[in-house]
Amino acid sequence: MCGIVGYTGFQDAYEVVINGLRRLEYRGYDSAGIVLDRENASFDVAKTKGKVDDLVAVSENLSGKSHVGMGHTRWATHGVPSDRNSHPHLSNNGKIALVHNGIIENYDTIKIMLTEKGFTFQSETDTEVLVNLIQFFMDMDASLDFPTAVRFALNEVYGAYAITVMHDDFPGVLVVARLGSPLAIGLGTNEYFIASDASPFVEFTKEAVYLEEGHMATISLEKGVDIRTIKDNEKIVPQVQELKLSLEQIEKGGYEHFMLKEIFEQPKSIHDTLRGRLLVEEGIIKMAGIWDHLDRINKAQKITIIACGTSWHAGLIGEYLIEEFARIPVEVEYASEFRYRNPIITENDVVIAISQSGETADTMAALKMAKDKGAFIYGICNVVDSSIARITDAGSYTHAGPEIGVASTKAFTAQLTVLSLIALKLGKHKGNLSNQEFMRLITELEAIPKKVEEVLEKTHDITKEIAKDFVNAQNFLYLGRGYNFPAALEGALKLKEISYIHAEGYPAAEMKHGPIALIDENMPIVIIAPKQGHYDKIVSNVQEIKARKGKIIALVNKGDTQVSSMADYVIEFPETSECFSPIVASVPLQLLSYYIAVYRGANVDQPRNLAKSVTVE
Ligand code: AGP
Ligand code: GLU
Repeated sequence: MCGIVGYTGFQDAYEVVINGLRRLEYRGYDSAGIVLDRENASFDVAKTKGKVDDLVAVSENLSGKSHVGMGHTRWATHGVPSDRNSHPHLSNNGKIALVHNGIIENYDTIKIMLTEKGFTFQSETDTEVLVNLIQFFMDMDASLDFPTAVRFALNEVYGAYAITVMHDDFPGVLVVARLGSPLAIGLGTNEYFIASDASPFVEFTKEAVYLEEGHMATISLEKGVDIRTIKDNEKIVPQVQELKLSLEQIEKGGYEHFMLKEIFEQPKSIHDTLRGRLLVEEGIIKMAGIWDHLDRINKAQKITIIACGTSWHAGLIGEYLIEEFARIPVEVEYASEFRYRNPIITENDVVIAISQSGETADTMAALKMAKDKGAFIYGICNVVDSSIARITDAGSYTHAGPEIGVASTKAFTAQLTVLSLIALKLGKHKGNLSNQEFMRLITELEAIPKKVEEVLEKTHDITKEIAKDFVNAQNFLYLGRGYNFPAALEGALKLKEISYIHAEGYPAAEMKHGPIALIDENMPIVIIAPKQGHYDKIVSNVQEIKARKGKIIALVNKGDTQVSSMADYVIEFPETSECFSPIVASVPLQLLSYYIAVYRGANVDQPRNLAKSVTVE
């Protein structure tokens, strides 16, 4: 994970790097560091355990000193978060500085070799090994230029990285490289930016080059951007892209947290996901990604959905949707499990990867594996041009806009929206859905943004009130049936992630096979009980909980009486077809988690130990 920012140009590099790190802090936030380069002076370095604000507290004196520099916000993989383990790391001779996102898997062997040659190490990181390996190559051959030494070193390591490197004897030059972790280069006028995503430089330039896998670039004002392959030093012509991101999209817009802003953006983000695709008047769903491959997908022997975390929950709902409407068997797999076993995947299969960031290392690796086995690969990503989006055969973007809060909210509901479109499109094409049924469903889907708007308006204050009673809860159970079982899993994950309260999600009927033993008057149980979706069965489950004095927080449709009369707390949401109800029901669950976490004083946007894009395995 981690965020990297680099700059060479005419502005104050300190300001550019620090402001850029703030925008990338969602990627990692246990330590931060900065290095600046000035001509005829050695590097200025500041780094500390903690957040970017802590870094500013120890480095303000560096402001205005230089036009070249780079910074890092860390999500530790090797070595605890500490001042020493923070990046940048310097080589033993103090001349090379490096920031790194990812893991150098063979760092141990290289460390032993370098130690035998007399190198010493200040940190426990894998990163410090790489910077010293670069020095090692330069020491061995004094005529070696800096980018070549970086290339030689990279050819000795394996693992995943995005790096930026500076050399004190090459002022104004930044060398960057990528394998498995993202890196973008912003092209300004007389200035260049480097960042893990484009947000740090979006206000300065709209032109960017996304570094491809296995490529490196040498960047300087004099020579511009020189891209090469890491392996063979082959020259690559840069593909310049125009950025669509705007500054206000990545700012909080008056909300206390990004998460709350993103929860409230959902009517718009779902609408954006549907826009141009769901054409109710014409009675069609238009999705370029699917359209061009309809036959291929519909003939699939099976569809395997791979994802992690919240996206995996979306995948489970995708399974219900696709099996119901397209009648194609679906398996949903954790990417991290799928890739390490020997799954049966053939050329007749379709594999769908779901990933908000499009950078999740496990999902990426699982996809590559499925691709090697000849499957047709479809991506559902939020981040445009992300790594996963680029290796798929086809795909659909979710168009939810940048999601900064580490806990996924609007990306999840956008994923469900895309999956609904795909399932309905396939179902219609296969003739499983009558015209009338198709029209009924797409008309309902079109109404979802309005229903989400209504649920936000009506449940915001209620969830905020309910949250007060559960600030000191130790545990939570979330129950749902059918389509709302994965919604229960997601509700539990949201609470865990941001409030640190232990929470479990279960299919409501499964409760009696074990979790019921946990229920007493201290156990809060959130139960999703819409009218459409095994309501009668849920009523029995609620009775079972009531008999054991559990505290029931029921999510029911407007006008519900049966479940509501047994519940301790009632949250009403508008009725819709069962298949779309997780989109609407998830919203009050997000608000409930949000307010419980806020009342507990937790850092909602940057929960402990988490990071937004998990680019390590
Ligand atoms: C979401 O709240 C989590 N932080 C996490 O589970 C996330 O969904 C998971 O890491 C997958 O990320 P992706 O969608 O970017 O691939
Ligand atoms: N592996 C490196 C470390 O632990 C980089 C981690 C990161 O991506 O932030 O310092």
